[in-house]
Amino acid sequence: MPNFELAERVASLPPYLFAAIDKAKSEVASQGIDIISLGIGDPDMPTPDFIIDALYEAAKKPANHQYPSYVGMMRFREAVAAWYAERFGVQGLDPKTEVITLIGSKEGIGHFPWAFINPGDMALVCSPCYPVYATAVRFAGGTVEYLPLLDENDFLPDLDAIDEATWKRAKMIFVNYPGNPTAATANLDFYSKLIAKAKATDTIVVSDLAYSEIYYDAAQKPPSILEVPGAKDVAIEFHSLSKTYNMTGWRMAMAVGNAQLVQGLGKIKENVDSGAFNAIQEAGIAAMEKGEPYVEKARAIYKERRDVTCEALAAAGIEHRVPEASVFVWAKVPGKKSSAEFVTDLLKTTGVVVTPGSGFGSSGEGYFRISLTVDTERLKEAVSRISQL
Ligand code: MLT
Repeated sequence: MPNFELAERVASLPPYLFAAIDKAKSEVASQGIDIISLGIGDPDMPTPDFIIDALYEAAKKPANHQYPSYVGMMRFREAVAAWYAERFGVQGLDPKTEVITLIGSKEGIGHFPWAFINPGDMALVCSPCYPVYATAVRFAGGTVEYLPLLDENDFLPDLDAIDEATWKRAKMIFVNYPGNPTAATANLDFYSKLIAKAKATDTIVVSDLAYSEIYYDAAQKPPSILEVPGAKDVAIEFHSLSKTYNMTGWRMAMAVGNAQLVQGLGKIKENVDSGAFNAIQEAGIAAMEKGEPYVEKARAIYKERRDVTCEALAAAGIEHRVPEASVFVWAKVPGKKSSAEFVTDLLKTTGVVVTPGSGFGSSGEGYFRISLTVDTERLKEAVSRISQL
């Protein structure tokens, strides 16, 4: 029998964080333990009916049964440009050249470095962060240098601490606010400084804005990096319908920004996929055009969950930040255990699934992440079990 060894780029990967958690969860569930799953950021609320209806109608059109466009339907891209103008005041995105449809933002983020990273190129990636940024850079042959996100800096990278030579070596920098896993937010001052540094050193800025619509104070809506004048010279931004409209299973997202960057990503996609199902794009258009009242209701539900969780954590003496946005609470591991030990013991003894901070990078050590994706009663029960560990 031949032995088909995995390629080095795959063999050297750690297990994908959420796949590993799923496996551990199934093992514990098979022992009959009641599981409360606060691991992945996967909204538990259903996709609004009007979006499902739009899919159903669109799925009946024979034209939609054929290959879609590689870059997405023009109507979808126009709806994205209109949504950016309405939500962020970012006017004039050209749907032809500055917007592309994605099969989920993970797909776009995973493919983007292939278009711009040559073997040996370096990318700056925050730690802790969504694991896909670093993996995608490495798959493309690049190297990663980490920027620690620390509590004392509000979990923003310290841009001044990056020396000139590092900025010049960096081909791209990834940022994600509202942040996964820290739930931190960035303001326009931070983005302006980042864009200025990137422009001065020809660095590509990749902004992941997946959680922008789950905010708790309408007076402080998370901004888009494209609100910074001139950001389009260096930036591409990824946004997704997943968390906003409870559509994680639908795989529907977009990237917008600098035309060269958007089209570079398009070149990769032309070669590896055949575009997103048109009927899902039509449903996505309906979501962007008519979804806001539904998102407003979801925000109120998440806010209640956040409040219940943070009050219970505070009562249990577990340090955390009360998040202003995202579906996550980032909390400190109580006691002296590593985050992996804590999370494993918690799962085995109480059935509560949370994510270890170290799974998002070494600077996440000492923390764990709670996803607010179950109802308030279950969240209270989960924190009560956490506090008894
Ligand atoms: C997470 O829990 O970090 C995210 O839901 C994962 C993802 O969006 O792929």
